[in-house]
Amino acid sequence: MKLITTLILLPILAFSQSKFRVDNQTEMKISEIISQMTIEEKVGQMTQVTLEVVGQPRVSEEDEFVFDEAKLREAILKYRVGSILNTGGAVNSVKSWQGIITKIQEIATKESRLHIPILYGVDAIHGANYTKESTLFPQAIAMAATRNRDFVRKAGEITALDVRNSGISWNFNPVLDMGRQPLWPRFYETFGESVYLTSTLGEQYILGLQNSSFGKESSVASCMKHYLGYSNSFNGLDRTPIYLPERQLREIYLPPFAKAINAGSMTVMVNSSEINGIPVHSNKHIITEILKEELGFEGLVVSDWEDIIRIHTRDGVAETPKEAVKYAILAGLDMSMVPNDFSFYEYLVELVKEGEVPISRIDDAVRRILRVKFALGLFENAFPNKSVAKNINREKFDKISLDAAMESITLLKNDNSTLPISKKSKVLVTGPTSNLMQVLNGGWSYTWQGNNEKLYPQEKNTLLEAIEKVAGKENVIFNQGITFDKDVDVKSTIENAKNVDYIILALGEPAYCETPGNIHSLELDEIQINYAKELAKTGKPIILVLLQGRPRLITKIVDNVSAVFMAYLPGNEGGDAIAKLLFGDGNPSGVLPFTYPKYQTGNTLHDYKPIEKFDVNSENWLYPFGFGLSYTTFQFSNLKINGSEFNFNQSIKISVDVTNTGKLAGKKAVDLFVRDVYGSVSRPVKELKGFDKVNLKPGETKTVEFVLTSENLSFIGRDNQRIVEPGEFQVMVGDLVQKFTLIK
Ligand code: BGC
Repeated sequence: MKLITTLILLPILAFSQSKFRVDNQTEMKISEIISQMTIEEKVGQMTQVTLEVVGQPRVSEEDEFVFDEAKLREAILKYRVGSILNTGGAVNSVKSWQGIITKIQEIATKESRLHIPILYGVDAIHGANYTKESTLFPQAIAMAATRNRDFVRKAGEITALDVRNSGISWNFNPVLDMGRQPLWPRFYETFGESVYLTSTLGEQYILGLQNSSFGKESSVASCMKHYLGYSNSFNGLDRTPIYLPERQLREIYLPPFAKAINAGSMTVMVNSSEINGIPVHSNKHIITEILKEELGFEGLVVSDWEDIIRIHTRDGVAETPKEAVKYAILAGLDMSMVPNDFSFYEYLVELVKEGEVPISRIDDAVRRILRVKFALGLFENAFPNKSVAKNINREKFDKISLDAAMESITLLKNDNSTLPISKKSKVLVTGPTSNLMQVLNGGWSYTWQGNNEKLYPQEKNTLLEAIEKVAGKENVIFNQGITFDKDVDVKSTIENAKNVDYIILALGEPAYCETPGNIHSLELDEIQINYAKELAKTGKPIILVLLQGRPRLITKIVDNVSAVFMAYLPGNEGGDAIAKLLFGDGNPSGVLPFTYPKYQTGNTLHDYKPIEKFDVNSENWLYPFGFGLSYTTFQFSNLKINGSEFNFNQSIKISVDVTNTGKLAGKKAVDLFVRDVYGSVSRPVKELKGFDKVNLKPGETKTVEFVLTSENLSFIGRDNQRIVEPGEFQVMVGDLVQKFTLIK
């Protein structure tokens, strides 16, 4: 222990220049508007309702959205709402979106007293997934497997463009929750288990959304979510209690948000759940003290769906709904995603008039909301900007999505170089995920749950269709075999399997989103396990393709198959991406952004603690974080550090050579891990602190460089402050290890 030589780091990140701010002139304009506003107008700005509130009910998900004019006018003119969200039940075309937004803004900017534009928000989680004509990308978990920052940044830019082309200017993304609990149904929305990976990719995505190279009018406001600790559900189910000590909260869950604030994220959404018994929507320490005061966030804090009122209806912490509103606003919430009625508005107006909520708190909230509206240029033009469309190049955008999918797909097993297979081979394609679009996309795809096949574009290929395209229909036999819950034609599939060279078995999960995606076991469903075992009895080599949002256990069948592709949720181009890789029109280069578990319990994440490998405890996984094979081979050599001793202010430069030692060109992800050998708080055995990806021809060598600063070596100490301690550190790439000493 070296508590005496400990150096406390001030929040280095807190002074970044790129934090969301508006200039003084704008602040003055905002003051001027606020000075004219009534209490009702102010509280209205803080009120957000869902589009359904102002629309006619859709009979089916395939119907167009239609307004209820009277309700729309009531929401904007009587209740003075500042924001509307969502899609009205399902996807809309660009034309229909533009009509919707135009109508809303016409009433807000022309008929309301102060002409304040509406801030419209949607969940564009993997592309503008609620706009029909847009490009859908791989989900975040797959993007993290690419280890390619450019894809994430470009996906952000293209998403913003498609969202803004629909007339919308606010995106409830990125998800900066940590993917450390594989049961959690929102696992696929995360960038995986590493704090560094999540922070880095979250930043890239926000820069793509907000600082688009297509220009300001093609950018949208990002909404980092779900602040804070949401993914750390104790039992693995969505929206169940979280127990999180301050040290872990600051060490693991806070850094991606701190980074996102420094990248300029304009808005943040609060965690729906409770931490240590306190509903986060009522937690002043987390929302005001940490987010607004410590991290200096000047943007807008929005609640999650209905979560203010739930402090009363669900949590029983507030005795009345009105008290729930008071708790949330005093905790620091600026806008309520109410979203189904105007109760929040009524209660808050009363609370202000009764002196229960100070007007200064309301003014602060309104100021934050107006900052975002000004920054987005809504006061200049709140209407869909037709010139945005000129930047759209659909073919190019879909190709970027395809390339990202190809770089994400992760080859976990390839016995005897089974893959790639020759296009002349006869293959049987089978399994519940072999011929559906929803299994490539998951939730947040045209609908919330993503499971309406009719809404997927006809021209996009399922895995089967893509394989037929690449290998020729004449070489492909298709038998569904099983669905997710029943036998379709297992017997005839087994018969047909005897006549082919390979079985391509597509297993995994149907589409799901949020709480409906809760599961009670990580095991892949029994029907799929049994089916794989049946097929294995034919003796034909099986290539297992996993289309799933979380790592379902395959331990019971992994020895029965020759090759395994973890394909995650690769998006609309995912079928093509997998088919190309299967038949050698590309070389896999994805690596796991999480540890693939072997068992239900005891999964040791990459940053596990020394005690987890002590006595009879040992590393416990099926495939480690960062694992992923290629059709060529690579070797690391010459891991070097530019010195052996550094002080706290020095940058540490690390380099490593990567050589393609095989016969095919390929890309190699390079993960850099660091270990702080002795610490006053037990330190992980290794932790990701850098990553890169290189493209290498056969025989070629490239040098990859990383820079570590004291920020990368810091951690949360015994007194819950971020510190760096002198002493020995190790850096690791592959099997190579080097060390250096940090001195005072
Ligand atoms: C989800 C959020 C989402 C919101 C609006 C909630 O149920 O937790 O992630 O942004 O709905 O659709």
